[in-house]
Amino acid sequence: MKRDGFGSQLGALMALIGSAVGLGNLWKFPYMTGINGGAAFIIIYAGFMFILCLPLMLSEFIIGRRSQSNPVGAFRKIYPKGKWYYTGILGVLGAFIILSFYSVVGGWAFKYFFTALQFGFTDIAGAESQFNQFIQSPFEPIFLHLLFLGITMAILWTGVKNGIEKYSKILMPLLFFMVLILAVYAINLPDAKLGIDFMIRPDWSKVTPSVILNALGQGLFSLSLGMGAVITYSSYMGKTENLTKIAVLTILMDLVFALLAGLVVLPAVFSFGFEPTQGPGLLFIILPEVFASMPGGNLFGIVFFIVLLIAAITSAISLLEVITSYLTEEKKISRHKALIYSGIALLITGSVCSLSMGVLSDILIFGKNIFDFFDMISSTYIMPIGAFFIAVFVGWKMKKKDVKAELSNNGKLKLRTFNLFLFLVRFFVPIAIVVIFLNLLGIF
Ligand code: PHE
Repeated sequence: MKRDGFGSQLGALMALIGSAVGLGNLWKFPYMTGINGGAAFIIIYAGFMFILCLPLMLSEFIIGRRSQSNPVGAFRKIYPKGKWYYTGILGVLGAFIILSFYSVVGGWAFKYFFTALQFGFTDIAGAESQFNQFIQSPFEPIFLHLLFLGITMAILWTGVKNGIEKYSKILMPLLFFMVLILAVYAINLPDAKLGIDFMIRPDWSKVTPSVILNALGQGLFSLSLGMGAVITYSSYMGKTENLTKIAVLTILMDLVFALLAGLVVLPAVFSFGFEPTQGPGLLFIILPEVFASMPGGNLFGIVFFIVLLIAAITSAISLLEVITSYLTEEKKISRHKALIYSGIALLITGSVCSLSMGVLSDILIFGKNIFDFFDMISSTYIMPIGAFFIAVFVGWKMKKKDVKAELSNNGKLKLRTFNLFLFLVRFFVPIAIVVIFLNLLGIF
């Protein structure tokens, strides 16, 4: 059977940007910046994007395109000895955990889309209590999470190329435009300057070991790295695609989206008198205020939430595709069955995540409710650990000439920075990840 794949370099690039840009940028980045102290976090984050995430993204490209396999099969194919394929299994598990809470947040976006449709953003005072009431209620968020999951499954039902490529090409530019307008509006709000200062004036005393780990985790999350999504997508890429170019463009776009989202949310947070340390509810508490205060805000909100939903769905697709490609290729289950089984499992785990903010809020794991625990365990543990093994695998286990052949399209592209790349994946990336963890344990 011939494997499905992307049709062109532009299609592959758009699919990758589609995977990278999503709730990680618009929902997670602003609140992570808020809880981690602002500008200093952003500077560390941006640095990690290029010195850690770029070589990691190239490493995943190399593994995926060379093996033309799902993340588990990829390690087995390239290096059949040993247990390297466990890195792939960890990734599939990570995809499952992320998708569980990601779909819940996708459901929240649906709720706000429907609110905008009813011209419901009018009440400046009640946004916070309304949000809390909504996420704690037992039925509505679960139902909306199922809607989000259902749409993601439906798109994957028809396969990779038709499903993924087509949507990303038009929607990413539209999203960019919407976020840009919102940012311009937000930075002109009264007292917005406080929010801008928060984003550009670093207070280095706020940088703790956990802030550094959070910046790493957020970078990996936002770029879909360390858990096999990029391996899976690059396994659908053609042999003539310029991997370095695709990686650099994806990272630049992703960073721009995150910074713009920060410029929407953080000035508005200060302007409306909220605390930036709110946590995961931040975006959903601030946006209603923004839309309520903005002329034509509800109409704008309708378009904004459609586009946000689509960005979230194109990311969710890449998460579910990790699980689906694993089940079809390794467990020999048909694509449709694989989607149905994973859909049912995710319905359960997602519902548990959602309920953990309401009726199940007494269940705490390491002091966190299940939703926050899933969020933390994926970004700050699974993805960095996955990233460590991916770098070591490409740096030390793959043959140097294979790595070079893959990056240079068998010698057709000039590689000026190959030795730098090799140094980064062999030494810098693995050591940096270990140091960040040891630092967290107080060993330095
Ligand atoms: N990068 C996506 C986002 O920012 C989330 C994601 C994580 C997607 C991991 C795939 C894999 O929204």
